[in-house]
Amino acid sequence: VLSDDVIVCRCEEVTAGEIRAAIRAGADSLVAIKRRTRAGMGLCSGRTCSRLVARLLAEEIGRPLAAIDPPSARPPVRPIPLAVLAEEK
Ligand code: FES
Repeated sequence: VLSDDVIVCRCEEVTAGEIRAAIRAGADSLVAIKRRTRAGMGLCSGRTCSRLVARLLAEEIGRPLAAIDPPSARPPVRPIPLAVLAEEK
C-alpha cells in the first residue's frame, strides 16, 4: 500500500493521497480522477502513472484491477509543415 505522500504521477506531481481524496470525493474512473487531479495529463500522457492510478482506484473501491477501464487514449497532435501536405499527390 502506497503512503499518501508518495508521488504517483511524476509529470503533474500528484500524490497517492490526492488521488485517494479524489476517489473518496466521487471520482470513479481513471478519466474522472484525471479531471480532478490532472494525474495522467502530463508529458507522458499517463504511460508512467496510469497503472498505479488504476491500482489505487481498484484498492479504494474494492474491485479487481481488471475491472478498471483503461484510460482514454489521446494521441499527441503535432504541427506539420504545409509543404508536407502540398507534396502529396
Ligand atoms: S506520470 Fe502521470 S502523466 Fe506522466
